[in-house]
Amino acid sequence: MPRLARRAARKNKLSQVRFAVTLRGPEMRKVNIGLVGCGTVGSGVVNGLAHNGALMGSRLGVRLSLGGVAVRNPRKARPTRLAKGLVTTDWEALVRDPKIDVVVELMGGTTTARRVVTEALKLGKPVITANKALISAHGESIFRLVEKNGGNLYYEASVAGGIPIIKSLREGLSGNRIRRLYGILNGTCNYILTQMEAVGMEFAAALEDAQRMGYAEAEPSLDVDGFDAQHKTGILASLAHGFWVKPGQIFVEGIRHITPLDIQFARRLGYCIKLLGIVKKRGGKVQIAVHPALVPETHVLANVSGVYNAILVRGDIVGDTLHYGQGAGADATASAVLSDLADAALDLKHGSLGRVPPFVPHEQDGAVLPMDRAVSPFYLRLSVIDRPGTLAKIAAILGGAKIGICSVIQPEGHVGESVPLIMMLHDAPDAAMRQALKKIARLSAVKAKPTMIRVETFE
Ligand code: HSE
Repeated sequence: MPRLARRAARKNKLSQVRFAVTLRGPEMRKVNIGLVGCGTVGSGVVNGLAHNGALMGSRLGVRLSLGGVAVRNPRKARPTRLAKGLVTTDWEALVRDPKIDVVVELMGGTTTARRVVTEALKLGKPVITANKALISAHGESIFRLVEKNGGNLYYEASVAGGIPIIKSLREGLSGNRIRRLYGILNGTCNYILTQMEAVGMEFAAALEDAQRMGYAEAEPSLDVDGFDAQHKTGILASLAHGFWVKPGQIFVEGIRHITPLDIQFARRLGYCIKLLGIVKKRGGKVQIAVHPALVPETHVLANVSGVYNAILVRGDIVGDTLHYGQGAGADATASAVLSDLADAALDLKHGSLGRVPPFVPHEQDGAVLPMDRAVSPFYLRLSVIDRPGTLAKIAAILGGAKIGICSVIQPEGHVGESVPLIMMLHDAPDAAMRQALKKIARLSAVKAKPTMIRVETFE
């Protein structure tokens, strides 16, 4: 690198991208990036380009250049340095600027972000977004716009951070019918459950720990009540089955009710507890749900700990594939945005508008199986008065609902009048189980709200 370029590169990492890429020669096509939003992920993308933009340029034969960055507050401290001339507060001008070839939306939220994406697509510009909430809420209309305007929308960073699961489903596994998909898609919940298991913490203490570590937000509902995983599961289900799944069609249950006692009993029975996004093809319908599940401790997903994410995809031809990595954080998410930038740059270079379209109805798919009709084994923990006849009454309710009992644990030597009663139940429809549970909860011998957790057998 010439002396002058070296000096400039030291001064500003951004210039490093520019000089290094400029040296590739004038014949290389240049793609100007308009970045809207420069918080944690945006800064990660700017830094990623500074580190690997030149490498990407030589791999792609396209010069990637940051053409402008729209932010709300230019004076805000950021984990990256932005050259002064690049920054604007006017996202509309940036998106409309004819010099901007591709728009990267990393501002979050669903209101202005929707306008940014819509505006860019109407101009026929390719758009990259990491915004799962936006895609989940407005994906259908956004993808219609893509189709109408002949653009391309890239959203690798919207699910599972650095794991290239969108590309894997859309392209890598496009020769398969997807039979099953199981995802540990929320790092915060996985961290909380891992801590509860490792240290025996209560949920509230593990959540505080996750907040101290910067994983969970001050308002943690999006994560711990399962909604973040619901957005991601919906996006994956839509891709896997070729029809748009609305968030309201996805059963969701979070992890607030899980206790260290459940985790201990699950272990004793040979399981651990994970929050799973589940997509199962059953006949002509697709079961789509997010809930905590008992996972056999020998299963590969049982060993996904801490903030890591993993997705197991079962195709009819390939069999099981496992996709594992960091599901959040500036660098992991930036890696996904950079991969979208690579795709967008190549598509622009070759004039390709023909990525595998996201939602192509498959011949039999197209309907979501209501959760009532989902079938699984169950774990049940009750707090009961230890007196003759209690177990018989519970067994009678379950028998009446045609739910078979697989095993029962009632630990000896308990303190106080109530005792935990743990039951493993055979396969039953969800609606039947919930009905039976209501009846069981009304028994005078049952002292606290029963805990029911579905068991995932991965069959
Ligand atoms: N809050 C999410 C998680 C990351 O904990 O996995 C962003 O989707």
